Amino acid sequence: MRKPFIAGNWKMNMLVDTGKGLVAQLKDRVRDVKGVEIAICPPAVLLPAICEEAKGSNIRVGAQNMYHENSGAFTGEVSGAMLKSIGCTYVILGHSERRHIFGEPDGLINAKVNAALAIGLKPILCVGEKLEQREAGRTEDVVGLQVVAGLYGVTAQQMEDVVIAYEPVWAIGTGKTATPSQAEEVHQLIRGLVTETYGEEVGQSLRIQYGGSVKPDNARGLLGLADIDGALVGGASLEAEPFSKIVMAAVE
Ligand code: 13P
Repeated sequence: MRKPFIAGNWKMNMLVDTGKGLVAQLKDRVRDVKGVEIAICPPAVLLPAICEEAKGSNIRVGAQNMYHENSGAFTGEVSGAMLKSIGCTYVILGHSERRHIFGEPDGLINAKVNAALAIGLKPILCVGEKLEQREAGRTEDVVGLQVVAGLYGVTAQQMEDVVIAYEPVWAIGTGKTATPSQAEEVHQLIRGLVTETYGEEVGQSLRIQYGGSVKPDNARGLLGLADIDGALVGGASLEAEPFSKIVMAAVE
């Protein structure tokens, strides 16, 4: 049985005081939640304050990106070792905004996935097709390649720490959600690919989140499906009420 996993991606939002305030409210609302893993992923400079605020609670903290070297002359970058040292558990890698705004290719994302695992961070590897790719019937090819390339060199044992998030680019921040059956179809494809490479046990234990305009009113329909094991939430994670409602949808 896979434990549902709800994560909030704050993207480039919040300041230290508003972020800490949000965590304080969330802690209150989800204190008694069991059987669902909860994480929030604030911008890098907020991470130390948010890790401190979340300490001792059932809310884990993740970063939104990292570089694959541990230290060195890489101006402006943050390493996995740094994230680990302040108490991060997760790191989002290959988010569509990293791929399409900042031009991150699969090879770089793969290096980051391997570096995260090596340092003991759990990667949330994001994959997803653009609208024109879906319309051209290329969803399977695009997502399949992102999964295979992103996981290159990852061992079956390391797969225990990997989460994949399927985020169709056309559904991110647009209010257009994939229908539960559209999402489920791609989730099955991803699980199938992982099963082919790593075997049944790894395939069945892999957690696959859906992301893209997840809100309290559509969460239950998505989370009810067999291969949808959680959500990566953007906009609706910026306030305590909608985010905790999505967490509650996963409890049910
Ligand atoms: P929205 O929930 O705002 O569509 O963002 C989804 C996302 O990109 C999460 O990583």
